Amino acid sequence: MSKKTKQLLQRIRTDLREITPSKIREFDQEVSSIPGIIKLTLGEPDFNTPEHIKAAGILSIKNNHTHYPPSIGTLGLRQAAASFLDKKYNLKYDYENVIVTVGATEAISVAIGSIINPGKGEKIIIPTPIWPMYLPIAKMHGAEPIYINTSKDNYILKPQRLKAALDKYGDKVKGVILNFPSNPTGTTYSREDVQAIAAVLEDYNVFVISDEIYSELTYGKKHVSVAEYLPEQTILINGVSKSHAMTGWRIGIICAPKIIVKEIFKLHQFSVTTAAYVAQEAAQEAFENGFNDSQAMKAEYQQRGNFVYQELKAMGFEVLKPQGAFYIFFQLPAWLSEEEFCHELAYDYQVAVAGCSPFGPGGEGHIRISYASSMENLKEAMKRMKEYIAKKKKGMLSTAKIIETAKSY
Ligand SMILES: Cc1ncc(COP(=O)(O)O)c(C=O)c1O
Repeated sequence: MSKKTKQLLQRIRTDLREITPSKIREFDQEVSSIPGIIKLTLGEPDFNTPEHIKAAGILSIKNNHTHYPPSIGTLGLRQAAASFLDKKYNLKYDYENVIVTVGATEAISVAIGSIINPGKGEKIIIPTPIWPMYLPIAKMHGAEPIYINTSKDNYILKPQRLKAALDKYGDKVKGVILNFPSNPTGTTYSREDVQAIAAVLEDYNVFVISDEIYSELTYGKKHVSVAEYLPEQTILINGVSKSHAMTGWRIGIICAPKIIVKEIFKLHQFSVTTAAYVAQEAAQEAFENGFNDSQAMKAEYQQRGNFVYQELKAMGFEVLKPQGAFYIFFQLPAWLSEEEFCHELAYDYQVAVAGCSPFGPGGEGHIRISYASSMENLKEAMKRMKEYIAKKKKGMLSTAKIIETAKSY
């Protein structure tokens, strides 16, 4: 590195230099070159985008919709998104409540960025374990995260804990993040859970940033949006990435009261101008005519989730039964560290999974498996994991200490 580059590096924003890239993506990259590796690390549907949606994208190109669309999103997509949310989740938005974003990720960023005054010690409450991207995004916008560890509450944010945090930090709290169905735990909130949280939040002037990107993937219970109860204060985030296997198209949506939309829109426009026209027209097709596209994928995910759940239980792990999304979350025995488990499994048995420390308090000592992978892969991965665990136990059970600690396992 030249002297000049070194000096310029020192002039890059200090807090940005301190933020580290995603540990899970780093590990995923690291193990990618291992021959025969089965990667269950990342949260990406293994299905392709449905044909009718791809056809809409192709038609959009043929129609030369290759110019700038409106910054806020095309009228057609905004209307289709509002109508989808109404029919699915009884949410009373119209197109003026909707901003089209570059994936749910941009939606999260502009939502947080719109409510935080940097440098003022303003806070965002984040129940954990949670998708690790929230933390750097919040920090980059100058928000101070306040974590509420939900691991002792079945991974659901309990109203009394939320109220305690809101009272403790008072006016400094600008927002509360919710994400269910949850990445990484695969749990979701019942109507009663949502009502209980809403009953607390309605007494406070805080925004609820509700990331419902997995809303179409619930097993058993139908998804209930917090926006049904708190339309005035919810900034709802959703999209087509997970519901319609469209991660690469990069389309998300924000829904909020019109007056709030006007403000968030500025940050969106001055950050990215707009999402791609072709992708917007494909997403419109997804919302308009792909109403039930997620059903077949969901049935498949559910079958896979049940299989992995049974296998992990049989291996003796403490596992959360999947209720939504496509993740399974389980606890390691006290004698086995996340790092040891992930590395040995990847390098010696060619199965890559994610350690859950990056998901915040409550994640440590746990593993997340993404079962958005073929049944064939999952069967082979479970077979290899079983072999690894059996060998590990054998080697370790020879000492009294391990026999003692293995009881918890
Ligand atoms: C909870 C959660 N929110 C948002 C996203 C990102 O969605 P998108 O690809 O639409 O940006 C993910 C992706 O894994 C996620 O797990």
